[in-house]
Amino acid sequence: MTMGPQIDFTGQRALVTGGASGIGEETARLLVELGASVVLADLNADELPEAVKRTGAQGSVDGDVGSNAAVARMVDGAAAILGGIDLLFNSAGIGDDLVPVHEQSPERWLRVVDVNLKGTYLMCRAAGKLMVEQKRGAIVNVSSIVGLDAFPGRSAYGVAKAGVGHLTKTLACEWGNLGIRVNAIAPAYTRTPMVKSLLDRKIFDPTLIENRTPLGRFAETGEMAYAACFLLSDWASYITGVVLPVDGGWSAYGAAGDVVKIRTGEGTSGS
Ligand SMILES: NC(=O)c1ccc[n+]([C@@H]2O[C@H](COP(=O)([O-])OP(=O)(O)OC[C@H]3O[C@@H](n4cnc5c(N)ncnc54)[C@H](O)[C@@H]3O)[C@@H](O)[C@H]2O)c1
Repeated sequence: MTMGPQIDFTGQRALVTGGASGIGEETARLLVELGASVVLADLNADELPEAVKRTGAQGSVDGDVGSNAAVARMVDGAAAILGGIDLLFNSAGIGDDLVPVHEQSPERWLRVVDVNLKGTYLMCRAAGKLMVEQKRGAIVNVSSIVGLDAFPGRSAYGVAKAGVGHLTKTLACEWGNLGIRVNAIAPAYTRTPMVKSLLDRKIFDPTLIENRTPLGRFAETGEMAYAACFLLSDWASYITGVVLPVDGGWSAYGAAGDVVKIRTGEGTSGS
């Protein structure tokens, strides 16, 4: 294997779900910048043409990742445009209702699980079949800090994202000896349309989140794209089955709310 001073995806064919917005769009843009040929997949058919222009993708396919038939159609369509699929980034996802379990309908709970977990499973399965045939490929799924620990009001999303982590590890074990690596990123709060709508509706207090985050700020979409492209690339050639927190230290932090005092030097000295 030869590796240059920067990641080089020349000749690699990538499918990015959720590619019309946020983390998916930014990762698609970076994949293109690093030489890959990219197809975007998204439920939002209206936004796809503009997203193709913004990212420099080769084309797009639209449909619901929670539907087996739509996934088969999207993967076949992407493979036809690209001539095959070597890389898959599964970013399509929806948020939760932010209500406790007893107030959420089972139908809505299942829909959140269907998009975030079943959608990831179906895409891995369909694109993975092509990768198994060619005995080569890399997949990065998107979990969340909400999949690592419990967040009240997000039972469907949390279960789905925890499931994405477990699915990632299982697939890494099943496909490792077939030349396919499967990893996931677990982002913390990232400035995307999904998070912006929560902030606009004052569902989150950004200051509390910043204080709870050791790096003291939200993530930018580009920081998720860097991690995803690293894991998709040969620079991560011996990494599989990992769920990488990309979270500014969120998952490392176990204290209560006193971190701000320490960070600003206002804490007392000694133990
Ligand atoms: N933004 C964050 O803070 C954050 C944190 C942790 C994890 N995540 C995860 O990152 C991923 C991307 O989130 P984002 O913030 O970029 O969101 P976003 O809303 O900006 O983008 C998500 C994209 O997925 C598409 N999509 C939604 N449902 C779909 C479906 N059923 N089929 C196909 N496409 C569908 C949407 O149309 C949209 O274009 C999601 O899986 C999300 O759960 C986000």
